Amino acid sequence: MVDPPAAPSLHAQLEQHRAALVARMGGDPQHVRVFFAPGRVNLFGGHLDYNGGPVMPTAIDRGTFLAVRPRVDRILRLESQLDSQGIQFGLDQVPKDRSGRWVDYPVGVIRELLLGSGSPSPHAHLRGLDVLYGGNLPVGAGLSSSASICVGTAFAMDRVWELGLDRMAQVSAALAAERNFVGVQCGIMDPYAIGLAKPGHLLWLDCKDQSYEHLAVDFSALAIVVANSGVQRELAAGEFNKRVQQCKQAFEALQPYQPGATCLRDIEQELFERHRGRLQPVLARRAMHVVSEVKRTFSARAALLAGDYSALGASMTKTHQSLRDDFEVSSPELDLLVDAATEAEGCFGSRLTGAGFGGCTVLLVDPAHVPQVVQHVQTRYSAEKGWVPAVEVFHGDQGPREWSGAVEA
Ligand code: GLA
Repeated sequence: MVDPPAAPSLHAQLEQHRAALVARMGGDPQHVRVFFAPGRVNLFGGHLDYNGGPVMPTAIDRGTFLAVRPRVDRILRLESQLDSQGIQFGLDQVPKDRSGRWVDYPVGVIRELLLGSGSPSPHAHLRGLDVLYGGNLPVGAGLSSSASICVGTAFAMDRVWELGLDRMAQVSAALAAERNFVGVQCGIMDPYAIGLAKPGHLLWLDCKDQSYEHLAVDFSALAIVVANSGVQRELAAGEFNKRVQQCKQAFEALQPYQPGATCLRDIEQELFERHRGRLQPVLARRAMHVVSEVKRTFSARAALLAGDYSALGASMTKTHQSLRDDFEVSSPELDLLVDAATEAEGCFGSRLTGAGFGGCTVLLVDPAHVPQVVQHVQTRYSAEKGWVPAVEVFHGDQGPREWSGAVEA
């Protein structure tokens, strides 16, 4: 297979993005500020965040670009390189209703930042902005392009408008925008993974009490590879919210047998086994995934800390099976990618990442075997599907930042 041409560096892409704002929106480049917010890949804890469980994601070196230029009036103009249609509105008339388009993400964040406190207009002194969005993260592929846009917007607006928000306030605004404005009942994992990123580390986040720590990973011994099925999924399309609802119903049915439990994560496996017959079969399958995934995620953490990558990978592949059979969020393309990966020498394990239904799989690979694993997955996938999927090594990232042209702040 022919190697793809080397991608331009992130810094070169961010400089191009500065120029792109001027090309698209006119004016001069002098006061354009450029920002980057990463995406994330989740390694362990599939669909556990909204069940109060532990998750282990990492930010990745792909994400959202924002070019921002202050205006003299109070108009906010938002455009994207990925969509010909943007939006324009006054700072005193931030849209109240979602449109079903990409602009809902930044508009939702801006509503949170400007109106979140409930006060009518505490920001009368702010000036409008021209904003151009873009990036190098596949959209709708399970790599959290939506949280990347939301955290990136909160970070950039905080800087440009000098709102003085700390990182957790930015993360909260991003989360509230997705839940309240876009209407996806997502858990806390994605904005936390992006907002609290630390290079060379995975984030261990306990979604029950929001405590977290950074776990060091030796990336010279463990490569994170992402394979894109090319089948897009639509998170807000209902299936995700349906899973959230089913988990809630399963918890409500089990909670009377374990009165101290406050979320599905708390339900003990033995108790679940004893009472699963009382649940509708579909709810029992959803709960089975959550209960077993909590155990797997703790085992994965132990394997990571022990440097046992074979055990770590085996646990990851079991997660995929559980997401496929019990949680039913996989697809034939994702299963094919996982099958192809796990039969290749040097691949420790693989699973779908993100919500599922399409998008990407993640593979843990021995760095010495990356080229062979990539080739095997591409060859097998293209033999069955007729085209070659992108399969690439992703690196970690330091989180949202401003690119000043010389240094990152
Ligand atoms: C999506 C959601 C997350 C999480 C994952 C599944 O990415 O946004 O909150 O629930 O799915 O693990």
